[in-house]
Amino acid sequence: MATVLITGCDRGLGEEFALQYAANGDRVIATCLDPHAFRERHEHLSGIEAVKLDITDEASVLRLAVELNGVSIDLLVNNAGIPGPHPGLQETDLTLWRNMLEVNLIAPFVVTRAFTEHVASSKRKMIAFITSRMGSIGLNNTASSYAYRSSKAGLNMVMKSLAIDLGPRQICVLGLHPGKVALQGEGGLSISESIARMRKVIDHSGPHQTGSFYDYNGQILPW
Ligand SMILES: NC(=O)c1ccc[n+]([C@@H]2O[C@H](COP(=O)([O-])OP(=O)(O)OC[C@H]3O[C@@H](n4cnc5c(N)ncnc54)[C@H](OP(=O)(O)O)[C@@H]3O)[C@@H](O)[C@H]2O)c1
Repeated sequence: MATVLITGCDRGLGEEFALQYAANGDRVIATCLDPHAFRERHEHLSGIEAVKLDITDEASVLRLAVELNGVSIDLLVNNAGIPGPHPGLQETDLTLWRNMLEVNLIAPFVVTRAFTEHVASSKRKMIAFITSRMGSIGLNNTASSYAYRSSKAGLNMVMKSLAIDLGPRQICVLGLHPGKVALQGEGGLSISESIARMRKVIDHSGPHQTGSFYDYNGQILPW
């Protein structure tokens, strides 16, 4: 049994990560903006502790890290993020952009730094960042989405630096692109399939894969 801490479990990919790891028999610490609602939706489930966390609130992040002192975290999943919108050149709103940089780029760094010792003391020693192929400069041939793309490109760089810094401690740091996931009935990969495949990529990774940017099928993506 592993202990898994996942951010942004109120809905979407984070919630599904929590449900799948719990179904696997792991101990799941699911951080939510509204843990009460999460508990109400999943009151029949055991193995998941829903805790309140706004990842942009550094004091709260540090408080949770202290509360979990002595708990070894095998896998930290930095999932919480703002996945859209993706406006064009003239429509790009700077308030949205600053918020995306705060949530998608800076906060996952703050969370990871706060929980590094919890991960280092575990058996698996894994940190996953849910990034996006939209953060790949090499794959950008459709433009727009200045705010989201730059937040995820920056996150990829943070992931890579952390992999180098934490490599000597045998911690594996991965960047994962979940695919274009069908939310609210749109077309695309199903949430459950995306999470199942990313879990497989995580399962097959170790210190030798650290610093890699993978898609949900385990294919290396270009920076
Ligand atoms: N869906 C895709 O196709 C796709 C593709 C590539 C990458 N991704 C990435 O995958 C991750 C999850 O996306 P998703 O599609 O599941 O999006 P989602 O349905 O919007 O879920 C993201 C969750 O993060 C939460 N969140 C936002 N700001 C937060 C904060 N400051 N502190 C804590 N939680 C916060 C959201 O809360 P609220 O409920 O209040 O909004 C929401 O519950 C994101 O990092 C996204 O960029 C998604």
